[in-house]
Amino acid sequence: MQTQYTILIVNKSAEERNLYRHYLERNSLYTNNIIELETATQTLIYCQTQTPDLILVDFILPDATVISFLEELKHKSCITYMPVVVLSALGDETIAVQVMKNGAQDYLVKNRLTCEALNRACNTVMERVRLMRQIEQQQHNVQQRTIDLEQANALLRSEITERMRVENELRQSEAKIRRSLEEKETLLKEIHHRVKNNLQIISSLLRMQSRRPLDETTLILFQESQNRVQSMALIHEHLYQASDLSQINFGDYIRSLTDNLFRSYGVSQRFIQLDIETNALKLCLDTAIPCGLIINELVSNSLKYAFSNQQYDKIHGKIIIYLQQDSKNGFKLTVGDNGIGIDENFDWQSTNSLGLRIVHNLTRQLKGKISLKRDCGAVFHINFPTLEKFK
Ligand SMILES: Nc1ncnc2c1ncn2[C@@H]1O[C@H](COP(=O)(O)OP(=O)(O)OP(=O)(O)O)[C@@H](O)[C@H]1O
Ligand SMILES: [Mg+2]
Repeated sequence: MQTQYTILIVNKSAEERNLYRHYLERNSLYTNNIIELETATQTLIYCQTQTPDLILVDFILPDATVISFLEELKHKSCITYMPVVVLSALGDETIAVQVMKNGAQDYLVKNRLTCEALNRACNTVMERVRLMRQIEQQQHNVQQRTIDLEQANALLRSEITERMRVENELRQSEAKIRRSLEEKETLLKEIHHRVKNNLQIISSLLRMQSRRPLDETTLILFQESQNRVQSMALIHEHLYQASDLSQINFGDYIRSLTDNLFRSYGVSQRFIQLDIETNALKLCLDTAIPCGLIINELVSNSLKYAFSNQQYDKIHGKIIIYLQQDSKNGFKLTVGDNGIGIDENFDWQSTNSLGLRIVHNLTRQLKGKISLKRDCGAVFHINFPTLEKFK
């Protein structure tokens, strides 16, 4: 569908208005939108609310000069790039220049006017005004876009500044947390170190006391107590040497513990083979201490009883310590030997002897279950949940 243009014919002569209407109606674009007005006042009132596409105005108006009409149109109407064509009986160039300077787009002389010339002039003026308005609209758009971009840039700049501030604060608080963590780790290592030293002092006191003339049984009691204290001291030693203070590498700990026990009972690992498998598992302090003490008791028993009767060098003595993670998210600790075994008649679950009582108590402390296999020597199985599970 073609755009319908609105054209005002401003002329006091009805005859002339008719003629121009007749000319313009030849152009299908103008057919239905030709409005005839007689005076400058009527035209100005019309243009306060409407925006015609073209004003064909006569040089002689009944109520104003064409120059003052153009001035008022410029200032009082909402029309930009005034699409005004002035029609005059005079072919005076000075007047034409003056009229154009005051905003008219064209100046036509009536007696030379043909239908084609009028339509051509109208088309040219409307096209020029249309282009100028388009350019103005585009400039306005560019300006608006520039303002939008400047606002977005300002927002972005302030967001970047805010982000940098937050990042900086975060870095500072991270550094603070790291420092305080380092301080706490140092403190904790210091504590583990002191606990280990104190336990070693107790162990030394026991050793010194055992140097006095004592009977065999009392001497063994001193030696075993020393081993128990030593196995606890070892845990703290491993902890302050470890990079992670909350967990202990159980394999390393068990190796030191059993080395101590073999030395304490004067047994060489060349005669009794020691098989340790802990799958690089790590235990927290609350689990590692009871496990360490259980192993201390069971391995001491193996070293004391399993290979007595001077048999161990003949029967390929072997002590095993395995720690595995079981399917139910707990642990399975296996400690045993392939020695002479525990007597069938010995009630190992309710004995009053200290070693196995310690083992039962610590298993209970771990919320675990203990069983004994006597097929080949004595092998204890202890299943216990991870600490988190029973907390
Ligand atoms: N691995 C083993 N092989 C053979 N006999 C064992 C073994 N472990 C324990 N026994 C027997 O079970 C008994 C009880 O052991 P338990 O550790 O409770 O006490 P103990 O070793 O005699 O004394 P304590 O541990 O208090 O020094 C032992 O005296 C020993 O006869
Ligand atoms: Mg014992």
